[in-house]
Amino acid sequence: MSEYKYSTLAVHAGQHPDPLTGAVNVPVYLSSTFELTGIGTDRGWDYSRAGNPTRDRLEYALAALEGGVSGHAFTTGMAAISALVAPLHAGDHLVCSRDVYAGTVRLFDQIVSGYGIEIEYVDTSDLTTVEAAMRPNTRLVHIETPSNPLMVLTDIAAVSRIAHAHGAEVSVDNTFLSPVLQNPLVLGADIVMHSTTKYLNGHSDGLGGALIGSTAEHKERFLLVQKAAGAVMSPFECFLVLRGIKTLPLRVQQHEENGHAVAEFLSTHPKVSRLAYPGLKSHPQYDLAVKQQKGFGSMMSFELKSRDEAARFLGALKIFLNAESLGGVESLASHSATTTHGSVSEEIRASMGINEGRIRLSIGIEDKEDIIADLDQALATV
Ligand SMILES: Cc1ncc(COP(=O)(O)O)c(C=O)c1O
Repeated sequence: MSEYKYSTLAVHAGQHPDPLTGAVNVPVYLSSTFELTGIGTDRGWDYSRAGNPTRDRLEYALAALEGGVSGHAFTTGMAAISALVAPLHAGDHLVCSRDVYAGTVRLFDQIVSGYGIEIEYVDTSDLTTVEAAMRPNTRLVHIETPSNPLMVLTDIAAVSRIAHAHGAEVSVDNTFLSPVLQNPLVLGADIVMHSTTKYLNGHSDGLGGALIGSTAEHKERFLLVQKAAGAVMSPFECFLVLRGIKTLPLRVQQHEENGHAVAEFLSTHPKVSRLAYPGLKSHPQYDLAVKQQKGFGSMMSFELKSRDEAARFLGALKIFLNAESLGGVESLASHSATTTHGSVSEEIRASMGINEGRIRLSIGIEDKEDIIADLDQALATV
């Protein structure tokens, strides 16, 4: 289907009518097991952990949207990251962006490091640092771009060149932009990861994660992890994500338009400082954003003076919900130090540049004038 343009792919990739009934929506195959046609023969499926017809359709769509060879759907984004690192061995070295979702750090530091895998956090926006971190046993460089919540970009093509020269692979957490706005595989990365909980599903009503590989070996590797470790997405969740994907390009277009308008508004507001949004020309990596992204998205963060100001601002919002997560149709605001980065020590947060007044916004698809008016009235209470 790769000959089609993006919105066509979103509606049709993996979403052809059911061959049995002609139903235009992918049926939810709620069956744990499948009747075999003989000894060692089946109709394509034998047990849903290994493969399920609804999941197959979603995995096909995910691979098509990212330009990959295979898609693999998991119960959550964290399960997808667990599957990403599951094939590593004791003695392997993993390089990770310093400024990533704190849940990734929790997984790596509190679980994965216990398996004897050495994890090193570096500022992947600095290519010299990435080069210096590479070792003979480096197997994987995991990056998140734009980063969370400071919206720092990593040059995917340049990091991929460095990693490949040292025999390592590159995985990219592409959750913040969705496949509509950034395609890491096209830029040279090896594996893409998504929390489908966010833009792909888009309606804040399900949890899920995905890996998209770029080679036949990745397909074998992640099929094995799905079958062996078992954290596969349920057929119903697959249906929800398939439904979400149909409107993904449209939603992202509106998210983006609103995000830009909000960033422009906040950029001149006297109570707002250190606004981070790669779509503003004042962002230090604006040129890189233009080069590797197809848009700027609707995630941003800024600083108020203190935790007290942040609390007053969040308490005064009327349309925005004070909630974690992102990428849903509704606008969300959250206090980074106690939500996404609550599990990170104050010291590390300070070293990352996340202070007590930092607010992250996920701009939804409501009317942009209402969104801006809501922010304006809440900032007036600070
Ligand atoms: C960038 C990013 N990656 C991964 C995750 C984890 O995804 P999930 O909550 O679906 O496990 C999140 C969750 O907020 C996230 O923001």
